[in-house]
Amino acid sequence: MIQETISPNEFKLLRDYIEQHCGIALGEEKAYLVETRLASLLVETGCQDFGSFYRLAAANGSPTLRDRIVDAMTTNETLWFRDQHPFEILKTKLLPPLAEEVRSGSRFRIRIWSAASSTGQEPYSIAMTIQEFCKANPGIRPEHFEILATDISPSALFLAKAGRYDAAAIARGLPDYHRNTYFEPAGPVWTVKDSLKQMITYRRFNLQDPLDSLGKMDVVFCRYVAIYFSESFKRQIYSGIARILSPSGHLIISAVESLRGLVDDFEALSHANGTYYRYSRPKGAP
Ligand SMILES: C[S@@+](CC[C@H](N)C(=O)[O-])C[C@H]1O[C@@H](n2cnc3c(N)ncnc32)[C@H](O)[C@@H]1O
Repeated sequence: MIQETISPNEFKLLRDYIEQHCGIALGEEKAYLVETRLASLLVETGCQDFGSFYRLAAANGSPTLRDRIVDAMTTNETLWFRDQHPFEILKTKLLPPLAEEVRSGSRFRIRIWSAASSTGQEPYSIAMTIQEFCKANPGIRPEHFEILATDISPSALFLAKAGRYDAAAIARGLPDYHRNTYFEPAGPVWTVKDSLKQMITYRRFNLQDPLDSLGKMDVVFCRYVAIYFSESFKRQIYSGIARILSPSGHLIISAVESLRGLVDDFEALSHANGTYYRYSRPKGAP
């Protein structure tokens, strides 16, 4: 008979395994989460308990089981224009000076990174904000923008790339105007129009990996993801972001996250009841 409850020792082994492979740090009270999220994998792999499941995962050279464990442990909660102010900040504070640089010929492309893009609502909201900005600013076109959307979760990325959303997902924060302009009805679902999809490159990326391979970014959205990580991993990510931001680059995090005590490469600014961060080289840095 399968032992579906997790012992304290099994939890400790799996908790460390999960943190090692995706950075998600689970407190002692999260044993139930491991139990519920990994229950079906436990059955599928034929393991009798979480101890043998851990041993299988740890010994298994193939990335498949590891990816599925990570996928199961990620929380992909998201919605359109989440919190609104980040997109207002993008539209009124960040895009105008960048667009001016394009107009003056001092730059050709503006690069924006959605660092934990989940099922696509964040990068598509960025793309819609840009499309609207382009309509209001002649001479600036969607081709001037490159949006990179990354996530560790293969299933979230699959949904994001497909760009198909059911009525319940669409209802979560997408204004009618945006739905009617940027989506097409397809039976019971709404599909993102190609003109919007083409603006985004989706890529699987683990934030534990060096960020430098992504190239320089002008704006980084890193929202509702660091909340799951340890202080040292947060510090690693935010200082990595500082390294890849262009000299006039900006970082947007969520209101439940903070840079305080972690990095001093940023200056906090406020707009539209929200905070955003400008890259600013720490005093005394070379
Ligand atoms: C709660 S969602 C946030 C989605 C979006 N940024 C938003 O604000 O609505 C968190 C996302 O972080 C991703 N994630 C967790 N650990 C990660 C890691 N180590 N590298 C990259 N993405 C990760 C999860 O797969 C999940 O899709």
